[in-house]
Amino acid sequence: MCGIVAYVGDNEAYPILIKGLKRLEYRGYDSSGIALINNNNLNLYKKQGKVIELEKFTEGKDIVSTIGIGHTRWATHGAPNDINAHPHYSKSKNLAIIHNGIIENYASLKKELIQRGHEFESDTDTEVLIHLIEDIQYVAKVDLVEAVRIALNEVIGAYAIVIISKDNPNVMIAAKKSSPLVIGVGHHGEYFVASDATPIVEYTKNVVYLDDEQIAVIEKGKDLRLINIKNQEITPYIQELEIQLETIEKGGYEHFMLKEIYEQPTSIKNSMRGRLDVNKGIVSLGGIRDYEQKIMNANRIIIVACGTSWHAGLVGEYLFEDLTRIPVEVEYASEFRYRNPIINENDVIIAISQSGETADTLAAIKLAKEKGATIIGICNVVGSTISRETHCGSYTHAGPEIGVASTKAFTAQVTVLTLMALSIGYKKGAISDSKYRLLLTELDAIPGKVEQMLKSDIQVKYISEIFKDSSNFLYLGRGYNFPVALEGALKLKEISYIHAEGYPAAEMKHGPIALIDEDMPLVVVATKHGNYEKVVSNIEEVKARSGKIIAIVTEGDTEVKAIADHIIEIPATEDCLSPLLTSIPMQLLSYHIAVMRGCNVDQPRNLAKSVTVE
Ligand code: G6P
Repeated sequence: MCGIVAYVGDNEAYPILIKGLKRLEYRGYDSSGIALINNNNLNLYKKQGKVIELEKFTEGKDIVSTIGIGHTRWATHGAPNDINAHPHYSKSKNLAIIHNGIIENYASLKKELIQRGHEFESDTDTEVLIHLIEDIQYVAKVDLVEAVRIALNEVIGAYAIVIISKDNPNVMIAAKKSSPLVIGVGHHGEYFVASDATPIVEYTKNVVYLDDEQIAVIEKGKDLRLINIKNQEITPYIQELEIQLETIEKGGYEHFMLKEIYEQPTSIKNSMRGRLDVNKGIVSLGGIRDYEQKIMNANRIIIVACGTSWHAGLVGEYLFEDLTRIPVEVEYASEFRYRNPIINENDVIIAISQSGETADTLAAIKLAKEKGATIIGICNVVGSTISRETHCGSYTHAGPEIGVASTKAFTAQVTVLTLMALSIGYKKGAISDSKYRLLLTELDAIPGKVEQMLKSDIQVKYISEIFKDSSNFLYLGRGYNFPVALEGALKLKEISYIHAEGYPAAEMKHGPIALIDEDMPLVVVATKHGNYEKVVSNIEEVKARSGKIIAIVTEGDTEVKAIADHIIEIPATEDCLSPLLTSIPMQLLSYHIAVMRGCNVDQPRNLAKSVTVE
């Protein structure tokens, strides 16, 4: 939620900020703004809407500056208008701030400041913070860094902030707690700050990830200085970025989402790289090796996640119970953290998060950690907060996912869960040698089969054209493909704004069947696995009520073909691996329908990719 980018150096800040904001738009696109210092003036330019609106707004304006801060907003406090857009000024207009997060006690701080004569232009918590900082500067007669430090000791909540001051156009002050912030150490004394590394990577690969409650004093031409809010000096740890520029650009595709769908043969392969050796019959996840015994002896596994990652978690439940015989519960992180859950030291928590920054998932981890559970992370973003808060974990290595609707991250999460379940299950003796070997071989073949699946794109596009104007969709699946049905429905909702529901196929009789008529398309997974005959009966029930059936079937199927209106074939595979294939046509269906309806596929309305608020 909200993207931050900042620059100080010898180059022009404006183009760096605009380009960076465009890369960060996936974090929110309600409004955007920048602050620049030139000729001893601190100027703010902000505009409701996407970064393109800001660019139009700044045309012809004085944007020459070698220091600047930029922000793209996902509104929390206050409507998404020009006034509430960041940056915000302090009372004297000498300081400007950008902020990602929420200051929870802003109302009481605001009340005190109003009593002391402060007036506020916006409804935001952020404006309160910068007023507070300046107030401390004057009242306590301290410099800006000390005022920031004192203020951050007073605030409750989450923040990633960058502040610049008219009085010192070579310095930026940045700080973070719970929201991410990374500093790029450029050449010749220049610095970059951003919510993630994507605005930085083309300028430098040397970065410092700030930890919670750290403050960075970033001065052009000088060494980076870090302190914490207790005023202890910290030595910055400079790391080298692993991401490549090509991975965050569209590479000829019309949308990031389509590019990411098409990347799946590679991203799934990357999730398995160095971890799966079919010939030797080895699955080895280095990141969890030291904790494997603990997982094998766990009383139960609790998977916590949100959104698409929660759906991957549901597939994980089927995988772990099936292959390891360890009981599994899957929890929405937001519910888990607030319902006083029973957790003890023999529980293992698996936290799944693409971004590694989701506030509720992070809070769920902290809660479970306090109660002594072992926490495993499955994250995509290397160095993210969740990956650092867990005891151990495995990265998904799907590469940067920019489209707000998650696609390749989902299949990579399912791949890693499969590897984990296979490794634990085999070591525990819960699966036979022959089944283990078979699953390894089949898993190894999945990237090739995904490649084959992608050839169905033309056919999925044809089906999309037929159903693009529908108002409702029903998605059905059983067993391993029940979570896929949920995920398919979520994808369609997210990007095409069509109401869609996912259901376990047999539950249809208990309610949704009442909705079925000739205007209701039904997407059903009917692959040749355990419950095939039962799903065929469910399809017959829909057919008898004139519902339109789009069935995802195993190659060569004739039975469903005879009754469905449209079929999409997947190559044969084992039941537990089928979600990696059946989810692909669902992603393509939602993509094409959204494009045909003229929706903004990569940046759907009201959504953000990284939800760092609760
Ligand atoms: C948001 C995104 C979803 C994502 C969910 C969880 O809602 O729009 O695509 O699945 O957050 O995010 P995480 O980064 O924790 O997987």
